[in-house]
Amino acid sequence: MPSSTLLGWTTRTSVSSLELNMTSPEKEEESHCLRRHNWSVQRRDALSRKYAEKVFSLLGEFNENAKEEKSSGTALAAAAAKRPAGYSVVDCGAAPGAWSQVAVQRVNSTGTDPDSPRGTLIGIDLLNIPPLDGAHFLSNHDVMDPATHAKLQELLPGGQAHVILSDMAPNASGFRDMDHERIITMCFSLIDLAGKILQPRGSLLCKYWDGILTHQLQEKLSRLFGSVRSLKPDASRKDSAERFFLARMHKK
Ligand SMILES: C[S@@+](CC[C@H](N)C(=O)[O-])C[C@H]1O[C@@H](n2cnc3c(N)ncnc32)[C@H](O)[C@@H]1O
Repeated sequence: MPSSTLLGWTTRTSVSSLELNMTSPEKEEESHCLRRHNWSVQRRDALSRKYAEKVFSLLGEFNENAKEEKSSGTALAAAAAKRPAGYSVVDCGAAPGAWSQVAVQRVNSTGTDPDSPRGTLIGIDLLNIPPLDGAHFLSNHDVMDPATHAKLQELLPGGQAHVILSDMAPNASGFRDMDHERIITMCFSLIDLAGKILQPRGSLLCKYWDGILTHQLQEKLSRLFGSVRSLKPDASRKDSAERFFLARMHKK
């Protein structure tokens, strides 16, 4: 994965001249996240989109299935019947919306490709998420709140998603262990959400900061999914504890 094409890390360099009071890579990542939100609300920047493309390429199985569906003619039948038959993706921690922008294209939620089934993209964030064609956003919503889970069940076709993505990060305190614990708690809450809305054989991709509780999270994911891999994108800062778990083949 060529690092020059990946998000944040390049973006981060370009804003490093701003005055910051950072105490850890996680704190820096959070500050970066907030700055990026303000900075790219008007223009979901190309670097963020490229990063999102890379993240989506991790979801190989999802992409393969999408290709198969397209070539099988199911898509045409679905389009003809004007019913939703596409993929449903939930993007947790979606603001300002770069990942969602890529997801909208991947699931064809705008219906731009008449030969593909029309999918659904729902993004959630504590912050306001600027509108995006093809996306349904739940701004000012907490992914960890059961009321948000209930809303998602209502909004998703059949109440189910094929993929849950999470780039969520808590407000970093700068204390590595505490921040690690908080992001792991978020990941456990995503597992609860998956139990409610993720389809059998569905995928969950979640960001975490590595630490003492990683093993517990991995064990729990391994009980609930057929395949679990820990990934660190090449472009992720070497001194950052940021990693992703890609859990596929949800057992239900
Ligand atoms: C790294 S940013 C996400 C960037 C986004 N993936 C994009 O492509 O534009 C992390 C986001 O997680 C959100 N977040 C943190 N905790 C959350 C929670 N409990 N519920 C919803 N969103 C949350 C933050 O508000 C922040 O916008």
